Amino acid sequence: MNKTAISLLSLISIFFSIICSSLFADKSDDTLVIAFKREITNLDYHYGTKTEYLILADMIDDSLFYVENDNLSYVPSLASDYKVVNDVTLDVNLKKGVKFHDGAEMTADDVKEAIEAYASDAEICENLGFDGVEIHGAHGYLIDNFFWEGTNIREDIYGGSIEKRSNFVKEIVEAIRSRETNNFIVGLRFSQWKQHDFDAKLAQTPDELEKVIMPPVNAGLDYLHSSMRRFWESEFPDSKENLAYWTKKISDITTIGVGSVGLDSDFIDMMAPANPTSIDKAIEDISSNKYELIAVGRALISDPNWVIKMKEGRFDELIPYTKESLLTLY
Ligand SMILES: Cc1cc2nc3c(=O)[nH]c(=O)nc-3n(C[C@H](O)[C@H](O)[C@H](O)COP(=O)(O)O)c2cc1C
Repeated sequence: MNKTAISLLSLISIFFSIICSSLFADKSDDTLVIAFKREITNLDYHYGTKTEYLILADMIDDSLFYVENDNLSYVPSLASDYKVVNDVTLDVNLKKGVKFHDGAEMTADDVKEAIEAYASDAEICENLGFDGVEIHGAHGYLIDNFFWEGTNIREDIYGGSIEKRSNFVKEIVEAIRSRETNNFIVGLRFSQWKQHDFDAKLAQTPDELEKVIMPPVNAGLDYLHSSMRRFWESEFPDSKENLAYWTKKISDITTIGVGSVGLDSDFIDMMAPANPTSIDKAIEDISSNKYELIAVGRALISDPNWVIKMKEGRFDELIPYTKESLLTLY
């Protein structure tokens, strides 16, 4: 095992959204029908174009529900009461005052304001002494809503083609660069998959991926962080290479890969258990300069000594990931 070739980043997300899953609701004001992704896979994801509202996770203030074990136990924190209709559907009465909406297109001023907010936050980080920021453009967050044709139905410079859908993040990177003063590091995390649609893709081919990532890269990114659910899977047909490989090959900037490194089960939700497994593929990829870094999330949450144990080959001492791992802070 080439131990020197591998760099590990601890990845503990502090983002403020909820457990990922798609939801949709009927049109009545106070009753929601919540369904899991497998039931709504074929829905048109454009907000407001269906009889049902599609409510994305980040429109909701806090966890509406969570999944426990494989039995889909629900505890909707925003619900006053709820009824299990079947194993994928709930009828929920919301607490008084909780409101959902089907989304509204951002105005040009809204977009400008959002770009400015990213830039000023980065500036604050630099002033506070941080070395850099990583822009979260993955998993169905705002930037990903612009990236993805499933959610971006704009007809201005921010939508309409794959290149235009990258303009939002390109302008964010430009705005950050125009304010930073001292070689501040700016990275971008992106993904093909969405929290509400694991099968979604921004790019079907390497050529399309180039159109997605090169606008922000050319605007001055230092690195890209490719979020995969299973880093060992190939990204495009006719090639066995993963998204991090293609990201590096196309952009030629420092690339991080993330997604079930060291675990045998992918990130479906943070409650699902996963067992330790080999990282030989990651080591091989990094040793052959396919990309530079991997990020490790759950494996480190369950076992803070993961890096040392991997380095020393103490594989039988690794602690599996379970939802209980989240209860202990090291
Ligand atoms: C407890 C926990 C919370 C997470 N929260 C978020 C989040 O809020 N937003 C997000 O985009 N990803 C979130 N993730 C996903 C991670 O950023 C990462 O993509 C995922 O855990 C894959 O890495 P891993 O397989 O090494 O755990 C979370 C993961 C865990 C385990």
